[in-house]
Amino acid sequence: MGSRVHCFKSAFRAQTVPLVLAALALGPVQGAQDTAAPIVIRFSHVVAADTPKGKGAEYFKRLVEQRSQGRIRVEVYPNSQLYKDKEELEALQLGSVQMLAPSVSKFGPIGVKEFEAFDLPYLFDDYAAVHKVTRGPIGESMLGHLKSHGMIGLSFWDNGFKEFTANTPLRRPEDFKGLKMRVKSSKVLEAQMRALGAVPQVLAFSEVYQALQTGVVDGAENTPINIFTQKLHEVQRYLLLSRHGYDAYVVVANRKFWDSLPADLRRTLEQAVDETTRYVDGLSERDESASLEAIRASGRIRIIEMTADERNSLRKVLQPVHRQMQGRIGRDVLESIYAATGGDPKPAEPARGLPAAVR
Ligand code: LMR
Repeated sequence: MGSRVHCFKSAFRAQTVPLVLAALALGPVQGAQDTAAPIVIRFSHVVAADTPKGKGAEYFKRLVEQRSQGRIRVEVYPNSQLYKDKEELEALQLGSVQMLAPSVSKFGPIGVKEFEAFDLPYLFDDYAAVHKVTRGPIGESMLGHLKSHGMIGLSFWDNGFKEFTANTPLRRPEDFKGLKMRVKSSKVLEAQMRALGAVPQVLAFSEVYQALQTGVVDGAENTPINIFTQKLHEVQRYLLLSRHGYDAYVVVANRKFWDSLPADLRRTLEQAVDETTRYVDGLSERDESASLEAIRASGRIRIIEMTADERNSLRKVLQPVHRQMQGRIGRDVLESIYAATGGDPKPAEPARGLPAAVR
């Protein structure tokens, strides 16, 4: 028995030693890949987890981790936990985070001005008009320009139409005079507030609640989703249903990181971004009205509906911002957006017989 064991051992040794040596010479064997550390994507954002962007980031994480079978891990950091507005874009360029979805209004400070076109008042009438840009060649070309800034532009996500809020009733342009209004870091938004006679004040999203609560600023503009999830309606007295502007997100990745990925994983990520875009866009439209209803139901803020006449006077004052900002955004970009959406915004017909009402 002993000698048979001995024979077996030496035969085993004789066969396996060369195999092991050959394997070592060839480098890692197939199975080693499965146990290799996963590629980590840090996805940072500034809004609450229960917003379309927050839910979208989690949805994307699930898709990617499942489909890459553990080869990619996505870590989502909501609520400015990691970085605030400007810092998060710098962190992306430096590679400290790999993916973000900042608002279109936040790219100006890093030298990408085109996205500020989205900030123009009354640029889009509805989501269909928005999607003609974000889902078409104009959007694609805008995303393409991010390459020279160290980023890969992957998609646009809807966030919704914006409303104004303040502590004094807002209806007409003169109601904005002298108010300190929070804006995102966009020159177009600054020009918009100045056109209304207000004083724009750039603040990071994470600072808005406190700034409104303590009176550092008198008012702001945002989407119903952000107003509700940040509880801004609890620190403001009036919300004007102005729907005067639109806010989109740009899904971006660090370019070096993206280019270093194996082609199959890049495809997995691209598909996951596409599916998440459909998911987020569906949520945003629904959540916009649900948030407005929830704000209304809270009873914490008075909601002011505009008459067509009031809408028209606001539009008239804001329209010149388009021409004023044309040089910054690029005339070609603007012309192409007008052409895609059906022309530049005209003031609405004055309404007859409709009383201005605070409801
Ligand atoms: C804001 O700063 O108001 C928004 O852009 C925040 C966001 O990401 O929706």
